[in-house]
Amino acid sequence: MSAQKQANWSYTEGLPVEDDVLLRARDRSHELGVSPVSTGIAAALTVLAAASKAMTVVEVGAGAGVSGVCLLRGMGQNSVLTTIDSDVDHLRAAREAYAEAGIPANRTRTISGRAADVLPRLTDAAYDLVFIDADKANLPLYADQAVRLLKRGGLILINDALDGGKVADPAVRDASTNTLRQVGKTLRTNDQLVSTLVPAGNGLLMAVKMPA
Ligand SMILES: C[S@@+](CC[C@H](N)C(=O)[O-])C[C@H]1O[C@@H](n2cnc3c(N)ncnc32)[C@H](O)[C@@H]1O
Repeated sequence: MSAQKQANWSYTEGLPVEDDVLLRARDRSHELGVSPVSTGIAAALTVLAAASKAMTVVEVGAGAGVSGVCLLRGMGQNSVLTTIDSDVDHLRAAREAYAEAGIPANRTRTISGRAADVLPRLTDAAYDLVFIDADKANLPLYADQAVRLLKRGGLILINDALDGGKVADPAVRDASTNTLRQVGKTLRTNDQLVSTLVPAGNGLLMAVKMPA
């Protein structure tokens, strides 16, 4: 990355001022060995949830709740976040973060399990936003499921879509990087979607399911 691009990135990542709720959730993430979304992505999640007026959101990878709190803060008053994680300790920490953020318990549905098992059980075309932040090996499946779950006009967000610069480097050809490139291509070429890859954080892939 050029010095100027690095400076722009550092500047934008340094702009959001996070409150104690998010700082504590970040501390718990690190204690549990979870990588939370960057500060820039955290702020973007709140903005995108608010801009899309999301009332029903699915998250793959609750972690210790940093991204969930940010989504919930942008979502409407009676909205519900359905969040999936395979690790019960992470889900417990996420619930703690939601409670500390003052989110009523009926606004979150925390589901313990592997996303590949849970996502197919969720209702077709019932969600406004799907945020994916886990388990890159199964990303193609999650992206397919996200398209199925979204209402027309709904938004798919995939975190870490540049994977620390590996996706943009043609010399890197490992399986996880190839999977990310393939998912980007699948979303770009899907006629139902418009998509873009934004170089915030470690890359945020965004796609909207267009009206028929
Ligand atoms: C990068 S962390 C999520 C961080 C979270 N989004 C945040 O910003 O606070 C990934 C999470 O996905 C969970 N995970 C990993 N594989 C999974 C799978 N197959 N199904 C569901 N969750 C999974 C991990 O337990 C971990 O909590």
